[in-house]
Amino acid sequence: MTAGDYSERIPNNVDLREDRRLQRALESWQPNFLDWWQFMGPTLPTRDVYLRTAINVGREGWAHFGHVAMRDYRWGIFLADRKPDRRIGFGQHKGEPAWQKVPGEYRAELQRLIVIQGDTEPASVEQQRNLGATAPSLYDLRNLFQVNVEEGRHLWAMVYLLHAYFGRQGREEADELLRRNSGSEESPRILGAFNEETPDWLSFFMFTYFTDRDGKYQLGTLKESAFDPLSRTCEFMLKEEAHHMFVGTTGIDRIVERTAQLMVENDTDDVGPYGAIPLRTIQKYLNFHYSVSLDLFGSETSTNVANYFTAGLKGRWSEERRSDDHRLTNDSIMVDTVTDEGQIGYTEVAALVGLNTDLRREYIGDCQIGLQRWNRILAEAGLPQRLQLPHIAFNRRVGTFAGIESTPDGQLLSTEEWQRRMGEWLPTDVDKTHVRSLMRPVHERGKIAAWIAPPRQGINGKPFDYDFVHLA
Ligand SMILES: [Fe+2]
Ligand SMILES: [Fe+2]
Repeated sequence: MTAGDYSERIPNNVDLREDRRLQRALESWQPNFLDWWQFMGPTLPTRDVYLRTAINVGREGWAHFGHVAMRDYRWGIFLADRKPDRRIGFGQHKGEPAWQKVPGEYRAELQRLIVIQGDTEPASVEQQRNLGATAPSLYDLRNLFQVNVEEGRHLWAMVYLLHAYFGRQGREEADELLRRNSGSEESPRILGAFNEETPDWLSFFMFTYFTDRDGKYQLGTLKESAFDPLSRTCEFMLKEEAHHMFVGTTGIDRIVERTAQLMVENDTDDVGPYGAIPLRTIQKYLNFHYSVSLDLFGSETSTNVANYFTAGLKGRWSEERRSDDHRLTNDSIMVDTVTDEGQIGYTEVAALVGLNTDLRREYIGDCQIGLQRWNRILAEAGLPQRLQLPHIAFNRRVGTFAGIESTPDGQLLSTEEWQRRMGEWLPTDVDKTHVRSLMRPVHERGKIAAWIAPPRQGINGKPFDYDFVHLA
């Protein structure tokens, strides 16, 4: 393996100094990235933040913690160690050596996959840029900024691939990644969920739980790729992504905990007047973020994705743990559908074209784990209420369910009825206004907003009242 070189202008473990042209190209992209960070990144002025910085990929000590001024953050390029003799694990090239270069026949598709993944990384930074102003504690503020700088590093990860392997077109795409902006009229981000705003911290935690988790699953499929540099970069990104999942999971834990506490103390469901978020509002936000995240997995069937799999570009979640032939040419899968009679049902398709469904199901199973945690918090508080994932057909805008409306229980609704009743299940202006009214900053050490419980511990062994952020 290559030792991480942390002394370079662009920290990296890819021997950047051995390839002067590539190094120069990336060094000329770097100021554009820093401009983007300054104009589209976090808006709250800070002096420094206690951040984790990736410095290498080794088993022990891959990251360094310390207070850094965010614009001096050392965004670097780190790929997981190369596995000698790695072989392709699926598709028509199964068993052949993994590719160290991009095969000409798959160039366009691979570039497209990398651009789509890359586009989501800066998008979420843009969506979250104003949240610092209303952080419930310095601990949460620090976690927000940690997620933001690492999404910035994930952009670097994709830009490195574009520069190193896709020539002039790749460099142009790298520039475009900074030109598109979340929610922009003229040049929006590529995927719908990444153009939604993240206006409050309940949305932020729901986003990191549900939408970042989509990212985890997409990275999981790219980690299987026959294109080895893509596989290795995604493997390392997944390591950082685990912290983003943690922020979402524990953020919602702490909101539910606080809400449950006030429900018990005051013997009421209506904790709004006590400065907390009612459980039914939490459920509505959950419904929204879950359903828009399900859309990110695409249509139930897709010949594109079948082709990606067969070509070896993109595998399945935990490909090596599957007990089939990893080619799937003779297999089938039941996918969700709306029947000719207009009912929610299933239909059998070739396994290869049903791969989006396979991935979405893995994701749904994973999402369920959070629900168990949150419901345990409610149960331990002695409350009978439970949170739940809405039905897969609820509030969908992509795929077979885009054409119908359904309740969170999966009961079909007419469009008129949906229009009339959607406020029962999705955040209304009243709900949003209440949540936003709670979003007042708590920027004092050791203090926390009233709508969320403090975390069990701080970060990296530091206590909750540590000075995680120094404001400017
Ligand atoms: Fe990311
Ligand atoms: Fe993330």
